[in-house]
Amino acid sequence: MGRAVKVALNGEVLDLENASLPVTERGLLYGDGIFETLRLYGGRAFAAGRHHARMVRSAKFLSLPAPPPDLFLLAEEVARLNGHQEGAVRITLTRKSETTALRPDPNTSAATTLITTRALPEGLPHMQRYGVAGRTLPYPLRAEGLTLQNHKTINYLPSLIALRDVPEGEVPILETTGGNLSEAATSNIFWVKEGTLYTPALSTGALPGIAREIVLELAARASMKVAEVLLPKKALLEAEEAFLTNSLIEAAPLTSLDGAPIGSGAPGEVTRLIQELWAKEVLKDVGGEGSTEPMS
Ligand SMILES: Cc1ncc(COP(=O)(O)O)c(C=O)c1O
Repeated sequence: MGRAVKVALNGEVLDLENASLPVTERGLLYGDGIFETLRLYGGRAFAAGRHHARMVRSAKFLSLPAPPPDLFLLAEEVARLNGHQEGAVRITLTRKSETTALRPDPNTSAATTLITTRALPEGLPHMQRYGVAGRTLPYPLRAEGLTLQNHKTINYLPSLIALRDVPEGEVPILETTGGNLSEAATSNIFWVKEGTLYTPALSTGALPGIAREIVLELAARASMKVAEVLLPKKALLEAEEAFLTNSLIEAAPLTSLDGAPIGSGAPGEVTRLIQELWAKEVLKDVGGEGSTEPMS
């Protein structure tokens, strides 16, 4: 028998099968909660300060109690117990409740915290090296100007529906009701045109991704021009290269859209440079190494 999978529920490390929540939990009933997914390198959570800051911002927006910063240390401990030192950690924060009432009881302001860990997806190195194909959907899943979409809430249905509706192995690209591209189902989009690195503005409902934030900083530090703008589908098809970012994939080339190649259809030079800069950033932050293998 393998060793029991560990989780941390409300700060207590438990075997997975012993971890349970009341059926009145508002995360379950109403999606009243937020979460963070972080990558570990050598057992240490990368960019933990940034993830904590985003969680604090979103907790404030939803009037949830702020997450304690030591949650991130506990996350490293759970990952160690599960043998996921090179894996991923998810930290979930939901609002506790003793009733099913829609309005939360003003006298109970407690939050449930849950830490789970997992290994990285197997196809990740391949994705980073060779890239992925993007596919738009016949319906919009983002609206311009809705701030709620800028928070990493546990309401994940738009991404789940998008994943359901694209062919296996392709990445769903989410459109806004205004006809612009916003982001992918679980990552942000970047593209390069005439010496500038672009990403869709947050007003398109894109998540302010931690990897997006890091890439914007890395590019600016490398003296690249960067801009946050609207992205019509045509502009992505006319880009010289494109890539996707999130905390697990770091930066992965986006080589086609709806079957048409983006640029040469192969991973581009700027993508490769960002991958190299990312690996150095990991070294600086947690002393480990970014996982991207050289692409040529
Ligand atoms: C919808 C969406 N956009 C973007 C991202 C990228 O966010 P991050 O860079 O913080 O991992 C995610 C992460 O899962 C996501 O779910």
